[in-house]
Amino acid sequence: MALAMDLVRSSEPDPINGYRSFELGEFKLTRDAYFATVDWPAKGQRHIHKLPIDYFLRAMMRDVAWGFFYGWVNFDHIFGTKNLYGTVEMYAGRYNEAYHLAGLSYVETFDEPVIMATFKAILADWVNAGFDPFAAPEETSTSVFGPKNGNNFEAIERTRLNTQRMPGVAGDSPLRDEAAYPINRHFLDVPQDDPVVRAEPGFEDQLSAFNLFKYLSRSDVTWNPSVTGVCKASLACPTTEEFILPVFHGNDRVEWFIQLSDHIVWDVQDKETGRPRAMITMRAGDVAAMPADIRHQGYSPKRSMLYVWENATPGLPDRYESGELPVYPVEF
Ligand code: PHB
Ligand code: FE
Repeated sequence: MALAMDLVRSSEPDPINGYRSFELGEFKLTRDAYFATVDWPAKGQRHIHKLPIDYFLRAMMRDVAWGFFYGWVNFDHIFGTKNLYGTVEMYAGRYNEAYHLAGLSYVETFDEPVIMATFKAILADWVNAGFDPFAAPEETSTSVFGPKNGNNFEAIERTRLNTQRMPGVAGDSPLRDEAAYPINRHFLDVPQDDPVVRAEPGFEDQLSAFNLFKYLSRSDVTWNPSVTGVCKASLACPTTEEFILPVFHGNDRVEWFIQLSDHIVWDVQDKETGRPRAMITMRAGDVAAMPADIRHQGYSPKRSMLYVWENATPGLPDRYESGELPVYPVEF
């Protein structure tokens, strides 16, 4: 992994557990055998917060792979990042009503390359051999715990696939190589037939179709939408889900979900305060618009297929924040 280490402030490896600690502004991040610890200044002291290390690394992996995503990536109810597109806000307690009102919250904004380089360096140092933060818990090892034991650069260097056209169309990303991407154990019943395409002579490079269910059945990652189709600002981002979405995503725009198989339970909360808004069970065929003023976390008890539809129209966050656009796409 190309690491811009000159942007990173880190310590020497801890003599007992072998892990480095990192600083971003006034934030300090450390890890031990079981926990990531974040600490920050509040009320004249250092306030500390602990997250289980497997959970923390799964969240950080998504934040890096998604380039800080749209809006808020809450690692949990306390700690996370808000994408300001060019700079990134890092916060502790700011979007937790109780912490914020108690005066314990803290926010600092960093240039995107600095926080990205630091997060990548943390992943490089804190992910042990054998642990894949993109994998479902049943599919990866518990080597994430304990003292430092090697690395897993191969797993953490995966980034989200971005297509310019459609997978399989000449000049764009190839469809998944079937030998390299076996059918996931939970999708053995997914038909693997390919559509028949008969193009007029001369149009062979322009007309294409593929079996999206087959494509997704061979995905080797969880909770990592691939931008599989782009039409102007409309991004088709299907993904396969198992266990917990490792972050509470706070929307800065409306997002649509189409549940393609199985089911996901969504915990929906107020974006600003974390107050509960709804628990929603989406079964295969269900469609939902997630409003622009919520945060959400999904629970998928077995691997399922979800179609996430994103609107990349420039300037949307400001238009929602100013109230120009209603937070719902449709008023009934
Ligand atoms: C979301 O925050 O909307 C989201 C993120 C990752 C997924 C699915 C949904 O895999
Ligand atoms: Fe979301």
